Amino acid sequence: MCGIVGYVGGEPAGPIVYSGLENLDYRGYDSAGIALVEQELTIAKRTGEVSELDVPDVPGATCGIGHTRWSTHGPPTDENAHPHTGQAGDVAVVHNGIVENYESIKAELADAGHEFSSDTDTEVIPHLLERELESGHDLLSGLERVVDAIEGSYAIAAVRAGSDRIVATRHESPLVVGHGDDASFLASDVTAFLDRTRDVTYLEDGDIASLEAGTVTVYRDGDVVDHDVETVEWDADAAEKGGYEHYMRKEIHEQPVALRQTLSGRIDIERGDADLDVSFPQGYLESLEEIQLVACGTSYYASLYAARLLEQFADVRTTVEIASEYTFDGGRDPWRTLVIAVTQSGETADTLGAIRRAGGAGARTLAVTNTLGSSVTRETEDSLFIRAGPEIGVAATKTFASQVTTLALLAVEIGRKRGTLAATDARAVLENLRELPGAVQQVLDEEARVLEGAERFVDADAFFFVGRQFGYPVALEGALKLKEIAYDHAEGFAAGELKHGPLALVTGETPVLSVLTEGARPGETLNNVTEAQTRAAPAIGVTDGTVETDSLDLALEVSEIGHMTPLVANIYFQLFAYHIADLQGRSIDKPRNLAKSVTVE
Ligand code: AGP
Repeated sequence: MCGIVGYVGGEPAGPIVYSGLENLDYRGYDSAGIALVEQELTIAKRTGEVSELDVPDVPGATCGIGHTRWSTHGPPTDENAHPHTGQAGDVAVVHNGIVENYESIKAELADAGHEFSSDTDTEVIPHLLERELESGHDLLSGLERVVDAIEGSYAIAAVRAGSDRIVATRHESPLVVGHGDDASFLASDVTAFLDRTRDVTYLEDGDIASLEAGTVTVYRDGDVVDHDVETVEWDADAAEKGGYEHYMRKEIHEQPVALRQTLSGRIDIERGDADLDVSFPQGYLESLEEIQLVACGTSYYASLYAARLLEQFADVRTTVEIASEYTFDGGRDPWRTLVIAVTQSGETADTLGAIRRAGGAGARTLAVTNTLGSSVTRETEDSLFIRAGPEIGVAATKTFASQVTTLALLAVEIGRKRGTLAATDARAVLENLRELPGAVQQVLDEEARVLEGAERFVDADAFFFVGRQFGYPVALEGALKLKEIAYDHAEGFAAGELKHGPLALVTGETPVLSVLTEGARPGETLNNVTEAQTRAAPAIGVTDGTVETDSLDLALEVSEIGHMTPLVANIYFQLFAYHIADLQGRSIDKPRNLAKSVTVE
């Protein structure tokens, strides 16, 4: 989820592109770079935040592109920073997203004599583009041919030495064009240039845009397309949040895109397998006796969800431990125990402590994290990235969904290697994963109903969340979200446990929220909800239609997608917590007493 900026007009481009990057640095900030166009290209790029980048002084350059990076392929280094150039160095490219087939393209280009200077997937794009230019194409038709050759999600902007023109295209990654007086702007988010123009055109998948000073032409399949010019009304702060009032709501709504990134290039339906760039020693997975997941907070709940998947698909005993409580106890063979640290930030001190204890005992260790180059990746033998994009709100939302999804893919891969998951069963799981972003979008489209529910129950004394099986960690996570951002008393329970004690707390002022879907034993859970309703508790349930829910005070629907259905139900709980907190005027993105990364034990 990096940031792209472009400018072509009558003023020096360097300061304008730089200021756009400053406005976008919340999208990623592990390296940044700029390419300025004259008869030759001038490129400056380096690791670190935008503020650490020195803009080259090229007053004659009135066209330029820039990038602020959030690494997916290749660590944050000067070489891996964008823009990237081709062999001859006269085209420069910035790119957001992932080129899934870059390895085969790179091998083919290397055979033809191309030399690469970075570890990125992006670098193949300028090399391909240069080849098209050499064979007579111009920048626009050349880029058109390049996107035919690449697979994945992308937003791309390219410039060529000697030409005041930017060409750009997108597929599943945002790009917006700004229309100024005798100037044209390009960015992954309007925030970049809102201080210069509010007249914008949002590009759509498959569009290829050509930007010259004050003139923008958009093509699709060779024809000119006429998109509306819209006027952005937001103020600068709202724009940074993409028009949302809070990062948390923005991040909840980013989940379909984040999940597509998580899954991108990792599903092989034909083989019935996941494809996750993690390597284990020969025979290691087959001889595995136990997997231990260590994590805190939301990551711990994601691990509880994933543990069931690992046990079911990989047929291996899987335990989940609160990282601060973890010790590598006796009775285990370290060589046959895989310890996985699950941490969004990769910096949580409790989790780092746990993984060090595991490694110290001789167990093999793996990090599942959102943050390339984070401490956990240096403490473990291997790393697996969840690719959710930067999460700014202290309350974790999209990273929970992407953690569970990444671990589901890992469960499939381990199950296939161990021979415990048949290809046909794996295919069914993978198909469900493919449907996940769409199912999440359906929930997001129902947000108005969640707001109505929040308005109805905002003054409740307390909230209880219940679920079984995969619904149990979702209940725990739903309650945590409400505690964190609304400061309301909220508890998550295994639904069957209500009657063993917590039922004493239930009154007409304590709504019970439940997961009533596939994967969460909906019939039995509904019985427990009814027991609470008998004690006057209002009932809100998330249902996929498996059980009759007429008796609920509020029923919220999800599509049934097998083991992943409770994960989709969780999106309703995120929205519910958000709206309860918003109605109470809470500090949603920065709740009291909390921090995004907890770096003390
Ligand atoms: C989640 O909303 C919380 N902010 C918190 O529980 C968090 O999940 C926990 O601190 C673990 O963080 P990590 O994933 O970065 O390790």
